[in-house]
Amino acid sequence: MAVSKDAVIEALKKVNDPELNKSLVDLGMIDGVEIAGSAVKVTVALTMAGCPLKSKIKEDVEKAVMAVDGVEDVEVVLTTMTSEQRARIFGPELDPMEGVKEVSHIIAVASGKGGVGKTTVAVNLAAALKGLGYEVGILDGDLHGPDIPIMLGIEERPVGSQGMLLPLENHGIKVMSTATLAGEGVPIVWRGPLVNKAIKEFLGKVKWGRLDYLIIDLPPGTGDAALTIVKSVPVKGVIVVTTPQKVAMSDVRRAIGLFKANNTPILGIVENMSYLKVPGTGEVMEIFGSGGGDKMAKAFKVPLLGKIPMESQVREGGDNGTPVALKGEGEAARVFKEIAHAVENMMNSSK
Ligand SMILES: Nc1ncnc2c1ncn2[C@@H]1O[C@H](COP(=O)(O)OP(=O)(O)OP(=O)(O)O)[C@@H](O)[C@H]1O
Ligand SMILES: [Mg+2]
Repeated sequence: MAVSKDAVIEALKKVNDPELNKSLVDLGMIDGVEIAGSAVKVTVALTMAGCPLKSKIKEDVEKAVMAVDGVEDVEVVLTTMTSEQRARIFGPELDPMEGVKEVSHIIAVASGKGGVGKTTVAVNLAAALKGLGYEVGILDGDLHGPDIPIMLGIEERPVGSQGMLLPLENHGIKVMSTATLAGEGVPIVWRGPLVNKAIKEFLGKVKWGRLDYLIIDLPPGTGDAALTIVKSVPVKGVIVVTTPQKVAMSDVRRAIGLFKANNTPILGIVENMSYLKVPGTGEVMEIFGSGGGDKMAKAFKVPLLGKIPMESQVREGGDNGTPVALKGEGEAARVFKEIAHAVENMMNSSK
């Protein structure tokens, strides 16, 4: 008796995808059934390459088809679904880059260690670029100490719209914080893979709209989270913030090494808290030593983008939510503007 194709398909209807718990036939995973005498060849399209359940699926299909009247031999060929086939089952996939589609330049700000003024630099760079007439957004990528909303005077929480998160805005700068992921008062204790997955999903879901610059304040140090971010979005380059003293140097070296090893360009180094001009006398004090930024820039052949003095206005601007670079008063504001110009030039020449 010839084997009937209908009978094979009937048998396959009883084989479920172990994960989705629906029949392979209903899921559209049966890509072909060929019959030659008593031999049957079934092509099964897996939902993803390297599906961990593929041997189970193969076995189940073999068993089911072998049980069909007249079948003496079964061959199961496994292929992988196309993205269109997958979309039919799971709905259209969210383009992981959907949120940053209209962003021209993404620039990350990193540091080898905490407390060197990374967030201050990120916020003031954003403010200075805004001052140059650009549309700017800033992403707080620091899950463990989200400071950007405070430094930009934002208190409300972002809302969602059609599966996307809408950034908040103050001083004409769009802001989103990964703190949104955690919710208020929830201690952020995620580690490793969980953080990475959350960050990736989060990055794709923020609806920035059209921006000339998106500045990302990376988590401090050279951990997984920083790397995940620069690998998840098309970052044009990283600015590394440091302070002048010797002990900061090894951290910077490690940070630069890490990004370089991952093919992320280093746009330059910003030295923060470079000196203090004593009010009244104008005497310059190099509280944290001197020359660190210069040395690193030379050693790694990257530009020293600027040296930012210690200024009470910088700290006050951070505390009261109006970055000093917005007002444009004082030495630090002037240096932030210079850095913004340097970034602008680099991006224009890299187009
Ligand atoms: N140039 C400066 N002059 C005066 N105060 C500064 C300067 N740079 C940073 N600060 C102050 O130092 C503190 C730490 O800065 P900031 O939060 O930017 O550091 P960070 O590197 O982002 O720290 P963390 O690693 O905790 O995220 C803040 O209160 C900030 O206002
Ligand atoms: Mg910070």
